[in-house]
Amino acid sequence: MNTYPASQQSPKRPPDRPPSQWTRLIVKLANFWLDLRRRVQPWQSQLTELNEIILRARSRSDISDHLVPLFAEAMSVRPRLLVELGVRGGASTFVLERVARLVGARLVSVDMDDCSRVCSWNRWHFVQSDDIAFAKAFPDWCAARQIQPCIDFLFIDTSHLFEHTVQEIDAWFPFLSDHARVAFHDTNIQKVYLRRDGSRGAGWANQRGVIAALEKHFGVPFNEQAYFVEVMNGWLIRHDPVCCGFTVLTKFHPGADSSDTIRPRHAPGELSNVMPR
Ligand SMILES: C[S@@+](CC[C@H](N)C(=O)[O-])C[C@H]1O[C@@H](n2cnc3c(N)ncnc32)[C@H](O)[C@@H]1O
Repeated sequence: MNTYPASQQSPKRPPDRPPSQWTRLIVKLANFWLDLRRRVQPWQSQLTELNEIILRARSRSDISDHLVPLFAEAMSVRPRLLVELGVRGGASTFVLERVARLVGARLVSVDMDDCSRVCSWNRWHFVQSDDIAFAKAFPDWCAARQIQPCIDFLFIDTSHLFEHTVQEIDAWFPFLSDHARVAFHDTNIQKVYLRRDGSRGAGWANQRGVIAALEKHFGVPFNEQAYFVEVMNGWLIRHDPVCCGFTVLTKFHPGADSSDTIRPRHAPGELSNVMPR
């Protein structure tokens, strides 16, 4: 684990407002009833790593619906450097580690708590720090490890507080590469949220923190309870409202080689051993 001097600012944590016992009970009963009626069997992928993610996503959580999309989003930019802000139990780290292994990229994960045990991959860099403090030191940290401070895939899943998310955008966006993609989790937190399989989870009232920070960045209102796609200010924005919300920004260059098009960084066929045929 790489530790990093703690920030002088007070670290950002979500306020302690857990869902009430009633909400939890109602959600449990609703899910129990749903499972009695039907439980959809997961599909099987030909790619081992994707299968592992599908299996992990079977355990319902606030992020379970987004683990496979996170894999697809990160894979399709063919990243050299991935940065993850917010590790906790390591569900997203599990996904991003598999992407990094498959494409030979570096993965740097940051959390203010010690999450160094969630991943044992020896090329994983874990930094225990406030993420805003670490952003200031990121160029030097990279230079010391001969890493280009140029992020192709950034995943943001930390406090979900408005002010902090605004600071994360300001602090980390300058390091994004030309074709970068940024994924935000928890852009649609509701007291009770709905997953794709019809099950429910208990959320918390965060006053739209993350999506409000995106609204501030783009200067327009967004309806986070609906699916939407938008293009503005050089970004393609895609939002999925299910399961606490997942919003993906991709740098958009009309007319140029779009970032959705895989860059010819690898020789043709080089990935054929890892991609399903
Ligand atoms: C929602 S959890 C992350 C969940 C994780 N992505 C997953 O898939 O399991 C949020 C994490 O962000 C961390 N965090 C909150 N504020 C932070 C900050 N200012 N800097 C770094 N980490 C922070 C918390 O310690 C917590 O572990």
